[in-house]
Amino acid sequence: MKEKIIELLKQNKNNFISGQKISESLGVSRAAIWKYINSIKEDGYEIESVSRKGYKLVASPDLLTFEEIKDTLNTKYIGRNIVHLESVDSTNNEAKKLANKDVIEGTVVIAEEQTMGKGRLGRNWVSPKYKGVWMSIILTPDINPMNVPKVTQVAAASVIMGFKKNGIEAFVKWPNDIVINGKKVCGILTEMSGEINKVNYVVIGIGINVNINEEEFPKEVSAVASSLKIQSGKTISRKEVVSSTLNYFEELYEEFITKENIDTSIKICKENSILLGKEIKVIERNKKLLAKALDLSDEGRLIVQYSNGKVEEIMSGEVSVRGINGYV
Ligand code: BTN
Repeated sequence: MKEKIIELLKQNKNNFISGQKISESLGVSRAAIWKYINSIKEDGYEIESVSRKGYKLVASPDLLTFEEIKDTLNTKYIGRNIVHLESVDSTNNEAKKLANKDVIEGTVVIAEEQTMGKGRLGRNWVSPKYKGVWMSIILTPDINPMNVPKVTQVAAASVIMGFKKNGIEAFVKWPNDIVINGKKVCGILTEMSGEINKVNYVVIGIGINVNINEEEFPKEVSAVASSLKIQSGKTISRKEVVSSTLNYFEELYEEFITKENIDTSIKICKENSILLGKEIKVIERNKKLLAKALDLSDEGRLIVQYSNGKVEEIMSGEVSVRGINGYV
């Protein structure tokens, strides 16, 4: 009911709509409408109430509900079902629970806060309330499990394009980090369930530090992490970031599914790579090797040349990559 009332208020934006009219259109009593309006106000909507005139929507909060995102979402199925949570341990965990039941492809779990956000390699992901985009996309592609890492490249390309749409220039640090001025502003965590040659589901977790302030990062994290707000000097609309990322994600994921290639995603990742052409360290367990990042393969692997001249394609998941003097 709350969604329906918000919709009516939005349709009448800048004008009053009477309680009587809302109650007639939705078939509920005026007293009930009054209660719902109070609850909607508590959700952060600014609503002016004037007796005999009714209610007027003055401003909507930057909440990541379907209601708030749908006006700028152009997708057919990605994000058409949004599971919005005020707080959760990890959206990836929640998405995996849903995927184990019956859920439609493209369902996105979004939380305003994560209490145990997960990064790669068992790391923790700082996810303060209302400050970022913490979301997980559930996919059920009919592909060979070997090809799942490609979806990470699709996601990285979508984030880059989504940022551009919002006037933000960022770079991909292969395979799953997005950086600005050498600091990480977004990380992608791809998890899957499958058998030898069958994928049950893939969960793409995307964490974007949108409006986190410098002092809100723990000390050890702020050395390598930053936010769009810190980097751009202005508050960024989280809902715009969500819808533009999902819009690009669907387009690029469709290319993958229908044409069985990720050419456009690779092109975007190459054009916006922070690593290509640079000297890097390839870290595999306790081994650190110096190499030059040469290229990305059509499959989304990083092609490197070691100092002994040997050229190799490396797969995400097998290694970590660092800049020669630090993170990039
Ligand atoms: C990394 O760079 O290490 C990956 C970070 C991924 C963080 C996101 S936030 C949404 C989703 N839920 C999680 O628990 N993790 C991912």
